[in-house]
Amino acid sequence: MSPIIAPSILAADFANIQREVEMLNSSAADYIHVDIMDGVFVPNISFGIPVTEAIHRYAKKPLDVHLMIVNPDNYLEAFRKAGAEVISVHYEACDHLHRSLQAIANLGAKAGVAINPHTPVELLTDVIQDIDQVIIMSVNPGFGGQKFIENTYSKVSRLKDLILAKGAKTKIEIDGGVNIHNAPNLLAAGADILVAGSFVFNSLNPAQTISELKEISLI
Ligand code: DX5
Ligand code: ZN
Repeated sequence: MSPIIAPSILAADFANIQREVEMLNSSAADYIHVDIMDGVFVPNISFGIPVTEAIHRYAKKPLDVHLMIVNPDNYLEAFRKAGAEVISVHYEACDHLHRSLQAIANLGAKAGVAINPHTPVELLTDVIQDIDQVIIMSVNPGFGGQKFIENTYSKVSRLKDLILAKGAKTKIEIDGGVNIHNAPNLLAAGADILVAGSFVFNSLNPAQTISELKEISLI
């Protein structure tokens, strides 16, 4: 089975966002990963609801919205209306994670939870059945182009074991520093979805790079 590929628009040319989205439309990408940073939860600000709407206006692939913000409950409906099909909140930003997951599901979106590098996957044991996807952060969130954290492999296999033990259908997404070299090992450990920002958009031919990621197969 080939991986689900979610290029991160954060690494795209924002001055030519329509052209970038159209490139993704005609590529082998499955999702468009949209990184929302508030300058509070993470030490960087990206963009918000109007830009997400603008991306959605041209997108023919589902928007996978990654909320790196405090108080995400206050913005779930706005991002759903802006076109998000998958909405992921951070474990570390939610006091009532179960409630946040229910709220996302009630909006008709897929519910995701992102976990920072220091957060053990075992903390999701009692909500795993309610999560459509877990984003394992393989860098500290806030910036594209960072170095992949090697401990991620162990987190992926432990999360895969947890999902199987609970009979859940949760998918595992990896976000940060993903490239053609670490992708095969991530898939072998149990990853389903690969986010790639700089590796795709800094390459000479982003559409071809997406195809190369998509064509990785497990031996
Ligand atoms: C990091 C973001 C990532 C980022 C990935 O905070 O959540 O989605 O855009 O970019 P690369 O692939 O360059 O690490
Ligand atoms: Zn992200």
